[in-house]
Amino acid sequence: MEEEKKSIGLLDSGLGGLSVYREFKKQLPQEHMIYFGDTANTPYGEKADAQILSYVTSIIDFLLKQDVKMVVIACNTATAAALDKVRRKFDIPIMGVIKPGVQEAVGQTRNKKIGIVGTAVTIRNQSYEKMIKDMDPSIITYSNACSNQIIREMEEEALKNEAVIKGLLRECLEPLLKNGIDTLVWGCSHYPFLKKYIEEEIDSKIALVDPAEATVKQVKDWLSQHHLINKTNPEQEDYFFISGDPVLFADIAQKLLGYSAGTFQKAPSTNNWSK
Ligand code: DGL
Repeated sequence: MEEEKKSIGLLDSGLGGLSVYREFKKQLPQEHMIYFGDTANTPYGEKADAQILSYVTSIIDFLLKQDVKMVVIACNTATAAALDKVRRKFDIPIMGVIKPGVQEAVGQTRNKKIGIVGTAVTIRNQSYEKMIKDMDPSIITYSNACSNQIIREMEEEALKNEAVIKGLLRECLEPLLKNGIDTLVWGCSHYPFLKKYIEEEIDSKIALVDPAEATVKQVKDWLSQHHLINKTNPEQEDYFFISGDPVLFADIAQKLLGYSAGTFQKAPSTNNWSK
């Protein structure tokens, strides 16, 4: 198959990466996507880096067998724990969501106070913080590893309990807002689905940085520079391989995206997925 017609592999620990998928459909609608949702192993945000690396390695192995032209790690946690290592291991372009988010945030801040919310793993790795400091040492970052409970609520309850989500978000954002941030990075792929609640909680002057949007913009530029943009509509619907329950995933995906996105199937099990 011609290189540009090949699919793009997108991986996430579960549902959150659908925010990046949605962005692909907006910015690069003619690309065929193969999404891997590792719901059998979610949440990544509470696991050891080595464990996450082994999940991500298995998923990329699987995506390579599907002959993708590139891999995008939609998950901040997986990007923080595994991106550098899988880039060294695999001979295929692999992009994460953190660097694009950092570049966007550094470009947005005026008072040089940036807030980051993410999982325990993302914040523990300090990937956002270090990269922001590398780009501009005068910026002060404030982080809160407050996403784990929010993710649980979304993965298990699919936004049924609005009041619970709002309460968790308020608790999560409060310490950052107290420090006078003017820019907030959504360092977890679930946040774009919570946009309206976040906007209710914070001053409209605070810039909201969605790494999903910034990442797909960079993927688009990269594909274009390498003459790899697919110019014709794909013949197949997008594929979703789910390590947990594909029916449940399809159901929540439909609620989050507002339409049925493609074919959902159980991912073939490996040692990592059959837990
Ligand atoms: N999707 C992940 C992220 O962007 C978090 C979900 C999880 O903990 O599995 O960080």
